Amino acid sequence: MSKEHRVLTGITTTGVPHLGNLVGAVLPAIKASEQRNTVSFLFLADYHSLIKNSDSQLRHQSSFDIAACWLACGLDPKKVIFYRQSDIPHIFELAWILSCLTSKGLLNRAHAYKAAISDNQAKSIQDIDKGINMGLFNYPILMAADILMFKADSVPVGQDQKQHIEMTRDIALKFNHLYGEILTPPKAIIDRNTGVLPGIDGRKMSKSYDNTIPIFSEEELLRKVIMKIKTNSLEPGVPKDVSDSNIFNIYKAISTKEKINEMQKLYQEGIAWGEAKKVLFEELSSFLKPFKNEYSKIIKDKSFVEKALIEGSQKALSFSEPIIKEVRQAIGIKGF
Ligand code: TRP
Repeated sequence: MSKEHRVLTGITTTGVPHLGNLVGAVLPAIKASEQRNTVSFLFLADYHSLIKNSDSQLRHQSSFDIAACWLACGLDPKKVIFYRQSDIPHIFELAWILSCLTSKGLLNRAHAYKAAISDNQAKSIQDIDKGINMGLFNYPILMAADILMFKADSVPVGQDQKQHIEMTRDIALKFNHLYGEILTPPKAIIDRNTGVLPGIDGRKMSKSYDNTIPIFSEEELLRKVIMKIKTNSLEPGVPKDVSDSNIFNIYKAISTKEKINEMQKLYQEGIAWGEAKKVLFEELSSFLKPFKNEYSKIIKDKSFVEKALIEGSQKALSFSEPIIKEVRQAIGIKGF
């Protein structure tokens, strides 16, 4: 029998679930989990959320919202391994081990850290590391530990996470070089249509940029957010380019092939931006409807969500325990 394929992905628990989470992580990961011979590890990256906020209430609420989002979107906790990162202490043990074989120079090159430094430089701040905590700096190592802890083969993520998966590969290869073939260097799975979803300002959709489209909000809020999507100043009647249109790129991520082709025609015919936003709003609202219905049922039953996560963590531990033992043996941390 061929070895099972392990798929793993997580979502950081800051803020409310947004369209980027849905089309970039949740739906592709659930789809991948339905394939034969696949074991899926889907988790709440709750300790990752400490990097950016110290609001414990928000973290707690967000963990619940994101867990409910996974379940509302079709995750079957009996078929996948669904857990909180914080329930698996072995991940943090592995993170330390990995940090001792990762060169600082590798982390100096991480996008998030580089962006924080250039922010300081742009503001002419003398200390380029001002306001940057070690969590932000070490973040790629914790992410590598999340992945390597379960020997995942594939990791469905958005384009912005690609560098982290490459770093994870480097770190796994370094470990294996030093201690033997134990860890699995993973591959990133990036969807062509949804892996680079823009936010309403055109930058990547992300909580950090405050440019997200919430998925479980009231219709009116959704409409307002859609109306704020940035466009260029081309007049109605002037043909428009789909490739650099945020409206089109979001539409493409949630619609069908036929409708995408129709929208493309409308662009050639010079659809007005207001009109294009309306088409997107209608499509998005019907795309989200079934998920929203499920979500409103699930959030009424906290114990269902909690139970799913507790059972999931038991399953996850049954994988992480033997792997951390293998790692400890390999590095010489063992009994006499
Ligand atoms: N860094 C990811 C994000 O912000 C979340 C995450 C944490 C993750 N650990 C992971 C994704 C491991 C995939 C695999 O989107």
